[in-house]
Amino acid sequence: HPPNFQMEESFSLRRENCRAKGAGPGFKVAILGAAGGIGQPLSMLMKMNPLVSVLHLYDVVNTPGVTADISHMDTGAVVRSFLGQKQLEDALSGVDLVIIPAGVPRKPGMTRDDLFNINAGIVRTLCEGIAKCCPRAIVNLISNPVNSTVPIAAEVFKKAGTYDPKRLLGVTMLDVVRANTFVAEVLGLDPRQVDVPVVGGHAGVTILPLLSQVKPPSTFTPQETDYLTARIQNGGTEVVEAKAGAGSATLSMAYAAVKFADACLRGLNGDQGVIECAFVDSQVTELPFFASKVRLGRNGAEEIFPLGPLNEYERAGLEKAKKELAESIQKGVSFIKK
Ligand code: NAD
Ligand code: LMR
Repeated sequence: HPPNFQMEESFSLRRENCRAKGAGPGFKVAILGAAGGIGQPLSMLMKMNPLVSVLHLYDVVNTPGVTADISHMDTGAVVRSFLGQKQLEDALSGVDLVIIPAGVPRKPGMTRDDLFNINAGIVRTLCEGIAKCCPRAIVNLISNPVNSTVPIAAEVFKKAGTYDPKRLLGVTMLDVVRANTFVAEVLGLDPRQVDVPVVGGHAGVTILPLLSQVKPPSTFTPQETDYLTARIQNGGTEVVEAKAGAGSATLSMAYAAVKFADACLRGLNGDQGVIECAFVDSQVTELPFFASKVRLGRNGAEEIFPLGPLNEYERAGLEKAKKELAESIQKGVSFIKK
């Protein structure tokens, strides 16, 4: 441990005491992949979150530097560094929420599924650690391909006997963030006033924006519907191409991840009416996993909402989405089962 570990330990105990005295809640959060393109801004933004009392930053490289840097921010959370596989268990010990942006990103010309071979193994190892050290933690899984890594995580937890479907959430928030932005542009509104449900999964045609359910209620021409659907489905590729080999979305993803993690923490805290879209174990369709609106509570995704009425365009999109999703889910499941 770094030399100031004991002092930090006593700070975190002090904060625990504050919490016990009713001075406000505080949760222990671990970020796995904290030194990466998403990990760094995500760690910074979580350090600013008043619901976080202790922040564990884990990666296989560079966490001491990122931690030293972020720990100087005069916000409430205590930050600790964990470097390399040997420190994974310490990083996970006693945490309430684990956020996972570990893994390689796309380069131009790649699909998210092209990341499977490397990221599947990374996610398996990290989830084995979670099953052992913090089986009751809420897990926010960002590593791609999300449509396969969430089933991988579920299978790891099932094998370990710790699987609680409510506590495993694939992060699709960036699709909602993009949809809100692009729809607001078309409607001439402030994106903060717009709410677009995005269901299905997190890759190409599996990303299904439900434009018929946009709030405030709005209508779109067929051209606008085509434009918006394509732009939302290709938002990730738009960034990958613009970055021209230097990776994929990191800053907007960190923003989206924090928006989602904050919703999970408010749920853990007992706040009422916290609803966001996520890719979860689901009975909304015949597929075992599907993204839709979920209500977040003390136990994670406590309620999963049905899709609601779809128009003909969306029903056709749903069929396409389900076909690709079924294959991606199966690929993740067989990676652990075989
Ligand atoms: P990056 O390469 O910048 O960072 C990844 C980090 O993971 C690196 O610091 C690396 O050291 C770390 N890492 C690698 N193996 C690890 C292991 N075994 N344990 C812990 N950490 C490990 O990549 P990035 O841009 O931050 O993207 C990370 C992942 O997030 C990619 O798979 C990307 O496709 C995905 N992503 C998902 C979404 C989404 O909406 N869900 C959005 C953007 C990116
Ligand atoms: C995104 O949607 O930005 C991420 O899934 C990263 C990518 O590869 O597109």
